[in-house]
Amino acid sequence: MGYNVAIDGPAGAGKSTIAKLVAKEKGYIYVDTGALYRAMAVCFLDAGISPGEKEKIIAASEKAQVSIRYENGVQQVYAGSENVTSRLREEIVGNMASFSSAIPEVRKKLLKLQQNLAENEDVVMDGRDIGTNILPHADVKIYLTADTATRAKRRYEELVRKGLPCDYDKIEKDIEERDARDMNRETAPLRKAEDAVLIDSSHMTIEEVVSEILKYCKSNTPQQ
Ligand code: DC
Repeated sequence: MGYNVAIDGPAGAGKSTIAKLVAKEKGYIYVDTGALYRAMAVCFLDAGISPGEKEKIIAASEKAQVSIRYENGVQQVYAGSENVTSRLREEIVGNMASFSSAIPEVRKKLLKLQQNLAENEDVVMDGRDIGTNILPHADVKIYLTADTATRAKRRYEELVRKGLPCDYDKIEKDIEERDARDMNRETAPLRKAEDAVLIDSSHMTIEEVVSEILKYCKSNTPQQ
C-alpha cells in the first residue's frame, strides 16, 4: 500500500509547483491528475469534437485510452500510443478539459487509473477531487487555495516570463469561470474534504507552503 498525499484546490493555486517539490523532498512520485483530463481532452479534440458536444464526448471517452508513464522520473501522458504531454498546456486543450471533466463518464474512466497509481506507489497527487473522491483514505490531505487576484497575478507573471501575450483581466475572468465550473458541477465538484488541512497561499512563499505540507507528512525512514 502506497503512502498517499492528496493536494486539491482551484486553478492557479500553485498545486503542481508545490506538489512537485513535496514529492521531490520525500522521494515520492508526483501525479498530475489534471494532465489525465487534458489527455482525454486531446482525444476528443482529435476526434473533431467541440466542448458542447456531450453525447459525442461520452461515446469517445469509451474508446479513449489514456495512460501515464514515468521517464527519468518525469510524468509522460499517452493517448493510445501517442505521447501527448507537449500538447497538454494548450489553451484549447484546457478549455475542452474544463468542460469534459464535468461529465461523469469521463471521470469514471479515469477513476481506477488514479487509484491504481496510488495503491502501488508512494505519491503526491494533485487535482480537484483527490481527497474527497479518488483517495478518501489518503494519509495527508491538503486543500491549497489563494484569492482570485493572487492566482490571476501569478498566472499573468508566468506568461510574461515566458514571453507569451496575455491580458490580466481576461486571465482573472477565466479563473473565475473555471472555479465556477469546477465547484458547481454535479459529479465530484471541487471542495475541501472535511479532514483536509486548508492552506491559503495568498501571502506565503513557495518554500513556506512546501515546509507547511511537509509537517503533515511522515518522516522518511533512515536508510540502513
Ligand atoms: O489542473 P488542470 O488545470 O490541469 O486541470 C484541467 C481540468 O481538469 C480542470 O478544468 C479541472 C479538471 N480536473 C478535474 O476535474 N479533476 C482533477 N482531479 C483534475 C483536474
